[in-house]
Amino acid sequence: MGGSEQAIRLGIAGGGIMGERVADAAAALAGVEVRAVADANPDSRARLAERFGAAAFATWEELIAAGGIDAVYVGLPHHLHADAACAAADAGLHLLLDKPLCNTLEEGDRILAAVERAGVRLMVGFSHRFHVELATAKRLLEAGELGDVVLATDQIVDSAPNGPAWYWDRAAGGGVVQLQMHHSFDRLAWLLGSPIVRVQAELHEREVGPSGAVDLAAAVTLTFANGAVGTSAASFVTGYDGDGVVELVIQGTRGHVRLETWSHVEAQTARSAFTQRQRRDDWLGAEVAEFVAAIREGRDPSVTGRDGHRALRVALAVKESARTGSAVDVAP
Ligand SMILES: NC(=O)c1ccc[n+]([C@@H]2O[C@H](COP(=O)([O-])OP(=O)(O)OC[C@H]3O[C@@H](n4cnc5c(N)ncnc54)[C@H](O)[C@@H]3O)[C@@H](O)[C@H]2O)c1
Repeated sequence: MGGSEQAIRLGIAGGGIMGERVADAAAALAGVEVRAVADANPDSRARLAERFGAAAFATWEELIAAGGIDAVYVGLPHHLHADAACAAADAGLHLLLDKPLCNTLEEGDRILAAVERAGVRLMVGFSHRFHVELATAKRLLEAGELGDVVLATDQIVDSAPNGPAWYWDRAAGGGVVQLQMHHSFDRLAWLLGSPIVRVQAELHEREVGPSGAVDLAAAVTLTFANGAVGTSAASFVTGYDGDGVVELVIQGTRGHVRLETWSHVEAQTARSAFTQRQRRDDWLGAEVAEFVAAIREGRDPSVTGRDGHRALRVALAVKESARTGSAVDVAP
């Protein structure tokens, strides 16, 4: 930040698991101040407000109405994303909206229209893109080191015995497709530089939440616009506390790359082979820094609302495919 530039004043709408992490990441950056926090939980909002010397509000509506901020991070349960994002855009606030964009196409269209109307920046929190292993894979793919991609397989296996109840509440937009698989849809399309255009899906659903059966596991076959095929599998359960497994393999005509998020990436190509172990990776700091840079530079962030909308269309097609038993085309 140049000496004459004002700090970007950030509000946190939803100071839960991610809201707290984003607030910490933002506060560690030069030129950003966490000025306000809204959370329905009095302990959470009081703790964060004290840590950052920020104003505390019980609801996201009060935070937006109070003014005094330039940008807002939305880390709310998924059924609140659309209303909070639209209200923030209408108030002229730049938006870091955690994934998924929202739950329905109507909501997604509404968010993109509000952002367009207001002329604010919208970044969707596809945090995987900021992991160093993913960045290495992206460089190899962009340089053409793997040749033409033929296959991309991705799996995300996670557990959260103490996760918030809404994670498994269908009415709130819980379930593994909304919570975890959006990362997969986004990261695969981004790495390949090619959108997903067809899916065929199976879901495993169970009653663990308050509003009926919700998807705990999903297995999806993918077709990309460039002709590559792939799979995405994800599961998210409550019954034990384990380390997540987040890994992918991409093979092209001249090589493959295999990576485990938070751990390492290895590549074998016609020209070389290497393994890169991750040491330290401030992926969330990198994500928030990109959001701030986009605001300062008056440009789109590297992850846009359109990316969020694209992943949402894939997720909705996955649900439809599981329901109908048929492959479903996705508008690219
Ligand atoms: N990018 C990632 O790696 C990652 C990881 C986890 C979660 N997420 C995403 O982050 C978002 C938040 O998830 P989380 O895990 O932090 O959930 P969480 O339940 O821990 O946080 C949500 C918070 O919103 C608060 N809240 C609910 N209604 C509110 C209201 N009307 N006004 C103000 N606050 C309200 C709750 O009290 C809670 O603290 C979701 O979109 C989720 O998918 C992203």
